[in-house]
Amino acid sequence: MTNGLRKGLTNYGDAAFSLFHRKVFIKAMGYSDDALDRPIVGITNTYSDYNPCQGNVPDLIESVKRGVLLAGGLPMVFPTISIHESFAYPTSMFLRNLMAMDTEEMMRAQAMDAVVVIGGCDKTIPAQVMAAASTDLPTVVLPTGPMVVGHHRGEVLGACTDCRRLWAQFRAGKIDEGEITQIGVRLAPSVGFCGVMGTASTMACIVEAMGLALPMSATAPAPHADRRRIAEASGKRAAEMAVAGTSKPSDLITEASVRNAMIVLQAIGGSTNGLIHLTAMAGRAGVALDLDTFDRLGREVPVLLNLKPSGAHYMEHFHYAGGLPALLRELKPLLDLDAPTVSGSTLADVIEQAEPAPDHSVIGTLAAPFKKEGAMAVLHGNLAPRSAVIKHSAASPELLRHTGRTVVFDSVEDLMARIDLPNLDVHPDDILVLRNAGPKGAPGMPEAGYLPIPMKLAREGVKDMVRISDARMSGTAFGTIVLHITPESAVGGPLAIVQTGDQISLDVDARRIDLLIDDAEIERRLAAWKQLPPQREKATRGYAKLFEETVLQADQGCDFDFLLRDGGSKP
Ligand code: FES
Repeated sequence: MTNGLRKGLTNYGDAAFSLFHRKVFIKAMGYSDDALDRPIVGITNTYSDYNPCQGNVPDLIESVKRGVLLAGGLPMVFPTISIHESFAYPTSMFLRNLMAMDTEEMMRAQAMDAVVVIGGCDKTIPAQVMAAASTDLPTVVLPTGPMVVGHHRGEVLGACTDCRRLWAQFRAGKIDEGEITQIGVRLAPSVGFCGVMGTASTMACIVEAMGLALPMSATAPAPHADRRRIAEASGKRAAEMAVAGTSKPSDLITEASVRNAMIVLQAIGGSTNGLIHLTAMAGRAGVALDLDTFDRLGREVPVLLNLKPSGAHYMEHFHYAGGLPALLRELKPLLDLDAPTVSGSTLADVIEQAEPAPDHSVIGTLAAPFKKEGAMAVLHGNLAPRSAVIKHSAASPELLRHTGRTVVFDSVEDLMARIDLPNLDVHPDDILVLRNAGPKGAPGMPEAGYLPIPMKLAREGVKDMVRISDARMSGTAFGTIVLHITPESAVGGPLAIVQTGDQISLDVDARRIDLLIDDAEIERRLAAWKQLPPQREKATRGYAKLFEETVLQADQGCDFDFLLRDGGSKP
């Protein structure tokens, strides 16, 4: 039963007047009574001149509107915050929860029976799903789609795995100034999100796997006609949901769909950020993501997708190979096939409709995977009492078991100031450690976990070292990098007391990360650490204060404690 324009009336103490008043104003836009009596589908407008990953949003809005009108609904477009990775100071993660709050409150405040949320760049889809789960309004997620690939001197390129690889070559003196400038205009040749399995692609795959987006939504390239047809279909489906009131987020975000999402996250070589966002999205629906289950799945579920940064290809190739439905077909024995989807059918039906794969060069099989284990492992040890994460599918195999001397950086600023000093005491076998870069520490948990190889070692040809931090890392990055150390150093996690020259042992197979000093010395150093003045001044006002006071740790999705469905059960 739809409520349309009658929903959520402004409170004047006279409901009939509130409706009259609302109609008086909306009719100024030229709407007829017939239009205003229809079920309403809200459509988020996250277009921004600052956000090229969502540069096709105006086109997609037109297609969604067409779909809504075809199904007899009234489309109503409304703006929300838009976040782009490169235009988000101090970090995009700092702003994710703000976008989630903005989207949630606008969904609640304005009359709509269903909503199509259009997102793309890393934090946008997680924020929108967090909002949808909290309002429980029937929602279709429409990703903007990946950008197409670029070409440079016979090589295929894509943002931003190749940005990092080629920048590292420039730092090492292998590419000159002229060529890196030329590369700079070829890495992102169209609008759309990064075309590798970075965080944006990961989140698009996860929402499709959870049934929150229509089939093929994750992979159709942003500029393609397929993308606009998916947008039209999303509008049409949302209008049906507006009438039926079905396919609510609470129907779709369940233990089964979260488990399916964890399987897909491991099988696609997904971003470590995806784990934080999935935890936050599930938390809003009251579903706890168990990191031990995620790790166990990682031992059972191989990487089936041959995409950068773990493999060779790009998102558009994944689309041509049959997209996510074709991947789900290969994962069929592992998935809960009864999980419902936003299209009204089950995951089994989606798989039934999947295109036949042309070959297995992009999507592998369980019998012939690209990596025999999943993308990520969850580590524990005296350095990470609650957890840490490593994307071992994009790491150097020879470094997955390594003990080395630490070189410690106290903050992102310290890292930037010293990493390239010619006299930095650092050797290829050392372990680089960064701290005070967690959710509260930086604040906003910057993607600084991909510590650059010190210039003097890069010029000697060193391409990878073990790097450890409480920061995050871009999903497009690669290397032997331990992230999300929890608790973070800024709240007194053991990372706070590591000293340059200490030994750390990493053993991914055993899922261990340990500081090789005895317990008594750890206790002594922690007690001394508590006497130190804080690393930086705390925020005294505004959103920054709210963030610092209420943000949860990485293992809880970095949501705000008061936004979880259960009000926040962990410290
Ligand atoms: Fe937007 Fe990569 S910068 S998805």
